[in-house]
Amino acid sequence: MASQIELDRYYEFVMKLTMESAKVIRDAFQGGKNIETKAGDWDLVTQYDRKVEEILIAGLAKEFPNHKFIGEETVSSNNFLPPLTDAPTWIIDPIDGTTNFVHSFPHTCISIALAINKQLELGIVYNPILEQMFTARRGRGAFLNGKPIVSSNVQELGSSLVCIEASYATIPEIRDVILGRLEAFVSIAHGIRTLGSAALTLCHVAMGAAEAYHTDNLMPWDVAAGVLIIREAGGVVIDTSGGEFNVMNPKVLAVGNHKLAQELVKLIKHADNKTQQKRLAAMQ
Ligand code: IPD
Ligand code: CA
Ligand code: CA
Ligand code: CA
Repeated sequence: MASQIELDRYYEFVMKLTMESAKVIRDAFQGGKNIETKAGDWDLVTQYDRKVEEILIAGLAKEFPNHKFIGEETVSSNNFLPPLTDAPTWIIDPIDGTTNFVHSFPHTCISIALAINKQLELGIVYNPILEQMFTARRGRGAFLNGKPIVSSNVQELGSSLVCIEASYATIPEIRDVILGRLEAFVSIAHGIRTLGSAALTLCHVAMGAAEAYHTDNLMPWDVAAGVLIIREAGGVVIDTSGGEFNVMNPKVLAVGNHKLAQELVKLIKHADNKTQQKRLAAMQ
């Protein structure tokens, strides 16, 4: 188990390194970028994603030689997702919201979490364009630029802002499921938002700016930091099915409070049943 002194050292070091590496994002934000596509049109990478990850991993590995890493661009280039072990592991998304970054849309960030014994110990989500630094440490609360944040206590969907991710609706096999859920939310919620950065969206739920966020199809680095930040802000993160959330296979239902979370689980189940019935009807 890491001592409080060790955890303090990890936190201070990674904060400093994050601020330094964020200069790459800030300097490149308005200019041209080399853009490559990975899994699909919705999955982009630039030379700056790779550069930020290199700086972060090199800096952390030098300071903490026994620590492990799960970083998006390293996983992509090795084509291998390592399992989460008990060893201290930094889970890194060097640029979350790459599509926003490519378009110079200012919702883009660095997301870093540290897990020890498979438990999230610290989370940092930093948007260097809007200068928003979200932080959390287990048991110590969540903060935006050093001020405590608290998730929403709004319990009715009709009074809630719900964030979703719709870009996966371009994938034919899951299109109807995503549109079915979207239709269910649109018809009841106060409003729907799509920010284009999973990490920042989780932080918006943590700070009570939105009541809920739902999307499947994410990866550990998209969510690890944001999950700790929401939980430390008093919010709830569960699996879309209503079960326990698994950071290594994230299907995200992140909500300001338990009551609304249960309502959303029911709504999603209802929407999925409707989609299933339509599929069966189309086959007849
Ligand atoms: C993406 C963003 C986006 C989410 C995608 C992620 P990236 O991460 O978080 O909001 O919907 O699933 O892949 O590729 O910009 O790091
Ligand atoms: Ca990506
Ligand atoms: Ca991401
Ligand atoms: Ca990324």
